[in-house]
Amino acid sequence: MRKKLKVLLLFNTPYATPRGYAFKDEFADPDNMYTEANVQKALKQNGYQVSLLGLHQDIRPLFEEIEFFKPDVIFNLMELFDGNTHMDHNMAGLLEMIGIPFTGASSGSLFLCNDKALAKKLLRFHQLKVPEFYTFQQGDPISLPRALKLPCIVKPLNEEASRGISQASVVDTEKAFIDRVKFIHQKMHTAAIAEEFIEGRELYATVIGQKRVSVLPVREMVFTKQAEDEPRIATYKAKWDDKYRKRWGIKGKIATGLTPEVQSEITAVCKRAYRALNFNSYARFDLRLTSEGQVYMIEPNANPCIAQADEVALSADKAGIAYPELIRKIVHMALK
Ligand SMILES: Nc1ncnc2c1ncn2[C@@H]1O[C@H](COP(=O)(O)OP(=O)(O)O)[C@@H](O)[C@H]1O
Ligand SMILES: [Mg+2]
Repeated sequence: MRKKLKVLLLFNTPYATPRGYAFKDEFADPDNMYTEANVQKALKQNGYQVSLLGLHQDIRPLFEEIEFFKPDVIFNLMELFDGNTHMDHNMAGLLEMIGIPFTGASSGSLFLCNDKALAKKLLRFHQLKVPEFYTFQQGDPISLPRALKLPCIVKPLNEEASRGISQASVVDTEKAFIDRVKFIHQKMHTAAIAEEFIEGRELYATVIGQKRVSVLPVREMVFTKQAEDEPRIATYKAKWDDKYRKRWGIKGKIATGLTPEVQSEITAVCKRAYRALNFNSYARFDLRLTSEGQVYMIEPNANPCIAQADEVALSADKAGIAYPELIRKIVHMALK
């Protein structure tokens, strides 16, 4: 009999757990660690031998688990370490040093994507359309730069999942602009990026592959009940608050009615960005499509959410790639 492939499923936890902990309660709760639970199930469906390891503030259990379980491959779901989102690239860097193949983005790609300004500078070099932007470190003097046209959107420079983004993030006066930058500095304790606001449709494109890459069917966040003068953006609540989504008719769906020109522009833009950022597994791009058919890259996401009900897996499903097959592909890309 062929030996089962040994996969170590590695993720971050909000508290310390001993090695060998089974996460029974956590994985059974649909509001809790559902991505981890989904991936574990899919790995098992593929016939792999799976071991779970949650890391909180201590890195040593990783070395112990590797010694004990001897994984062939690590499925890397580490999004943060000790509460720090930017440490995802350190984790990938550590895995690179250890030398066991792991899934998803390299430390380099994670590093580039963690800084919304750095990623934009690089994408612009590759002639991709990105919004004009300006960054404000904490302590910098704050004023509206001449080069930026209002309305703008003000965001944390290094955050994810729309943390720190609400309807109030979109500003159309100098005073509101300055106040929002101050808010990011004082309440989020981080640097801010202000970008010109791109009016348009909110699209998500998943790209998967190595030498040959595919852009999966594009998805869209639609806002069916929002007032005309309200910005239609993926705020924290629009992404994560089910009651709020229901109230404002915010839904995710496959994008329809894209002209062949727009579709091929999206494909070209995403493939170019994928290569520019050295992706080698899977990634998701947040795009805005203007009424003139211009495609703006808002944000490249390294190691985007791969829960079964999230954008990447839903795009894959539309392309005929069922969830266990998607997880299998991701594992096999790591092994190449
Ligand atoms: N320049 C922009 N123009 C229009 N909408 C934007 C812009 N930047 C961000 N948004 C909106 O805010 C959302 C979150 O911004 P994003 O940069 O993707 O941050 P996060 O990393 O938190 O997802 C986007 O999906 C989009 O709806
Ligand atoms: Mg985003």
